[in-house]
Amino acid sequence: MQVKKDIQFSLYCRGKQLIVDTYLNEFADLRVLIMAKLHLDFFGECGGMGRCVTCLVNLNSDKDEEFACQIPINYSLHNCTIKLIGDRLVKS
Ligand code: FES
Repeated sequence: MQVKKDIQFSLYCRGKQLIVDTYLNEFADLRVLIMAKLHLDFFGECGGMGRCVTCLVNLNSDKDEEFACQIPINYSLHNCTIKLIGDRLVKS
């Protein structure tokens, strides 16, 4: 049985855009989805404990910042624009 991917959103990271198609609870949370799609070295260092801040994202505006590790994969993400901003806190 094929599952319909009925949640779509845009993910921006370091000047690049990725259109993500997923479905309800495909991943445990947004952090896990981003790690699976983007394979970023710095991202999600604390494993979703809410301590590292590397998973910080903007949802639809610069004012609404949240931890990706605390965002479930559900229909509230549909048509969202999500920008990864946790890398600004990582020393390169
Ligand atoms: S993964 Fe560390 S705060 Fe979210």
